[in-house]
Amino acid sequence: MQDLAGRRALVTGGARGIGRAVAELFVERGATVMLADADAEEAAGTAAALGDAARSVACDVTVGEQVAGAVATTVEELGGLDVLVNNAGIEIVQPLLDMREEDFRRLTSVNLTGVWLGMKHALPALAESRGTIVNLASVAGMNGCPLLGAYCASKAGVIQLTRTAAVELRDAGIRVNAVCPGFVDTAMVDRAAVAIEAALGASFPELVAAKQGRLGTAAEVAETVAYLASDRAGWTTGAHYVLDGGLSA
Ligand code: NAI
Repeated sequence: MQDLAGRRALVTGGARGIGRAVAELFVERGATVMLADADAEEAAGTAAALGDAARSVACDVTVGEQVAGAVATTVEELGGLDVLVNNAGIEIVQPLLDMREEDFRRLTSVNLTGVWLGMKHALPALAESRGTIVNLASVAGMNGCPLLGAYCASKAGVIQLTRTAAVELRDAGIRVNAVCPGFVDTAMVDRAAVAIEAALGASFPELVAAKQGRLGTAAEVAETVAYLASDRAGWTTGAHYVLDGGLSA
């Protein structure tokens, strides 16, 4: 299927994990992709592995100038921008009251402000192409989760930013959607699992098996992102798609 043929995409946090899987699938479906990541070295390695259709740019999504720079580089090197995937994110596993103020600010700055900055700086280019935005939220943005208070709050914010942007941008022909995965097999979850086990004294694999059957894969999340980015989802905007093996059912 080449339903993203000719599309020019910017994927934040594209060096590894879900962002990398999104970039791989986009390239497979005919898109060209710019990977924007704070880890410039890993992003460059990923882009090289993906071949001529992928490039990379150093970008910390918490810094407006860097986000604007990543958009400008995309427009310059790929010839425009059709799809923005706001994927960069971090997780900090801690009881609410133990969390340090700087950690709360850091998390919301990456996960929420970073998404807003991406939308803000990409909009002029997306208005020109009547492009589309897909934001990585989480089922944690729909439910309360022990130890994930700041993360839950940031992802709830992403869902509401998505819905507001969808309504605000409808007349400009720009669709804006979010995906809400449960636990997915990436480095982020490897780190979270260690902290969750330490805090709850519970086995993470058993928790996952009981709540969602198994871990999701980054490729499964990428499938939904690719669908939402394509014209097949032409009437879908303001939605948040849940993929969680029944965790939130
Ligand atoms: P990951 O930790 O494997 O990869 C995250 C990527 O974002 C890395 O390449 C990292 O360098 C980059 N990044 C981090 N901070 C950044 C910043 N300030 N600026 C630019 N890049 C930055 O994480 P994973 O699991 O691939 O997660 C991707 C997105 O999916 C995140 O937004 C996460 O919250 C969300 N998500 C992940 C789930 C999971 O279970 N893994 C479940 C639900 C949502």
